[in-house]
Amino acid sequence: MKIKSADFVISNSDVSKCPSRPLPEYAFIGRSNVGKSSLINMLTNRKSLAKTSGRPGKTQLINHFIINDNWYLVDLPGYGYARVSKSSKKKFQKFITNYFEQRKQLVLAFVLVDIRHDAQTIDLDFMEYLGVKEIPFGIIFTKADKLKPKAIERQVDAYCSQLLKTWEALPPYFITSSSKKIGQEDVLNFIEATNNEIEDLRNKSF
Ligand code: GTP
Ligand code: MG
Repeated sequence: MKIKSADFVISNSDVSKCPSRPLPEYAFIGRSNVGKSSLINMLTNRKSLAKTSGRPGKTQLINHFIINDNWYLVDLPGYGYARVSKSSKKKFQKFITNYFEQRKQLVLAFVLVDIRHDAQTIDLDFMEYLGVKEIPFGIIFTKADKLKPKAIERQVDAYCSQLLKTWEALPPYFITSSSKKIGQEDVLNFIEATNNEIEDLRNKSF
């Protein structure tokens, strides 16, 4: 898919105030600092569409971006960031779960995991939560530039084995690096194919 336009729409913490156009939407979630905002910039060929930082906890709101005027990308705050206060962590959790449970346009969540780390309970638990809520998800391995090809393969294999302990089938997954621009085509083609499937289904139902 070619990115013809990528524009910021709105930030907020209230799902009812998210954009109302009935367009397919893809959300990026994962631990703080895993590279969600950087990935959005890489996918859209923009340097600073989404704000990034070396310090965890940069993204604090639900951020909508509209791509090619026909689908949304959503940058979300990270989970598992210890340095925010307990009360603001609770507020965070509430608006994020409200987003996942109420956002009708949400087609699929991409759960980002750092390819250097073994499967973490917090991520597996979040996938479990998405499963319970029947929200489709894919996995995006980030920061692949930090490992050699053999190590990438080893990490991905280990992750898949871990998933197959609890899941019957593997979700779609992608290996990416925002700094080396790895995986852009794979992720965008997947989104394009999914958008086309939705369009076909819509046309068939009329
Ligand atoms: P929060 O908004 O705090 O939840 O973080 P985030 O998941 O949006 O992470 P962000 O994109 O801000 O990136 C965090 C740090 O990781 C920054 O220092 C980025 O430069 C770095 N980073 C992100 N992606 C990559 C990557 O593919 N490779 C490398 N080497 N570093 C990356
Ligand atoms: Mg961010």
